[in-house]
Amino acid sequence: MDPERPVPREVLEELLEDAHWAPSHGLTQPWRFHVFRTPESRAELAGQLVALYDRAIPGPERDPAKRAKLAGGPRRAPVVVAVVARIEPDGKIPEWEELAAVSCAAQNFMLSAHQRGLGSFWSTPPVACSRELVEWLGHAGDDGDGDDEYRALGLLYLGWPLAGEAAPRSVRAPLAERVTWHGE
Ligand SMILES: Cc1cc2nc3c(=O)[nH]c(=O)nc-3n(C[C@H](O)[C@H](O)[C@H](O)COP(=O)(O)O)c2cc1C
Repeated sequence: MDPERPVPREVLEELLEDAHWAPSHGLTQPWRFHVFRTPESRAELAGQLVALYDRAIPGPERDPAKRAKLAGGPRRAPVVVAVVARIEPDGKIPEWEELAAVSCAAQNFMLSAHQRGLGSFWSTPPVACSRELVEWLGHAGDDGDGDDEYRALGLLYLGWPLAGEAAPRSVRAPLAERVTWHGE
């Protein structure tokens, strides 16, 4: 991605609108998006990811490559969106359905980005899925009953592909290995 080429706010709002039209059981609309688009906010996010990593991993066990990746990611992409799921506290909608709904929203976001020529990918290192990050983003980690009310589901990196750079080749197993046709 070209970190110098900004994604206009209006474009980002369209992607978020498409994400927002994802389905959800009971129309709970459990997705919450935190957009980091300015260089300052992305640097702050990078600093927080590294600080959380350092807090979680004792000094001698820290992996410099992982640490550098956390620090570098939000600087290399012009937009980072942290994805958070709100879990219905009374358990009326099972947690997995809320996570599935937010995943649908994330996929809508990425498909809409692709349609506009933007590149994106979903990144889920443990610190980006931690309760500490949820709290840093301003959501209460738990509503008092011991269960998490909000869960961080990682980061969506977004940006324009670098000029002249071919898209990475994607691979998938043959479709037939994943599909069973019943009765035919
Ligand atoms: C829930 C989820 C979490 C992911 N986490 C990571 C990750 O932490 N690091 C990573 O390199 N790719 C991760 N990916 C995969 C990429 O987003 C992407 O799908 C992969 O690089 C393959 O690219 P393609 O889908 O264009 O073929 C994740 C995908 C999903 C759906």
